[in-house]
Amino acid sequence: MLIQIPDVLTQAEVLQFRKELDQTNWVDGRITAGHQSAQVKDNMQLPETSPVAIELGRTIVHALYRNPLFISAALPAKIFPPLFNRYDGGHSFGNHIDNSIRRIPATGEQVRTDLSVTLFLSSPEEYDGGELVIEDTYGQQSVKLPAGHMVLYPSTSLHRVLPITRGSRVSSFFWLQSMVRRDAQRSLLFNLDGAIQKVGASMPGHASLVEFTGVYHNLLREWAEV
Ligand code: NI
Repeated sequence: MLIQIPDVLTQAEVLQFRKELDQTNWVDGRITAGHQSAQVKDNMQLPETSPVAIELGRTIVHALYRNPLFISAALPAKIFPPLFNRYDGGHSFGNHIDNSIRRIPATGEQVRTDLSVTLFLSSPEEYDGGELVIEDTYGQQSVKLPAGHMVLYPSTSLHRVLPITRGSRVSSFFWLQSMVRRDAQRSLLFNLDGAIQKVGASMPGHASLVEFTGVYHNLLREWAEV
């Protein structure tokens, strides 16, 4: 399941992020790539130990834990500290599948990458090209979102970033381990939660809401690893 999550950051936060990111040192993006991806990756990145990356990454994680749509869709167990990349003219990232296990450098903790995230920090008017193209079970999806919005997709998907032909594209990217490993189960829980929310809004206090909510939690209890 691929899902777009709007307004993870406010426009004021996006401006502040861009200001800080413009003033910092970027390095070759191959530093976090696996063997196969290093051959197709051509972009710039902030080092994982960069104080700016760590500080802005924390702001993103706080924003995510306040976002009900994100929580419902991702059911996060562990979030890898967000990284930042920039694609300038001619930069691209060819087809690849993200590494399955990521180690957090500061703690040594391992994160299984169930979901991949791109949070856009440039508005679509600032650059041409740079679409994130994801091969989903429903076909190919081309993603280019307003600044502050993000896309969440299964890390099992083949994906690429098309070459930039004008301007620069700045984004944050990271991975997370979900409490529910299987995409099909996570999608069912997301759809059930959405249906419960809609019934709750149109028929508040309906007696069956208690039962449906119970079914949701009993399924989550059955499938979650915490
Ligand atoms: Ni990737």
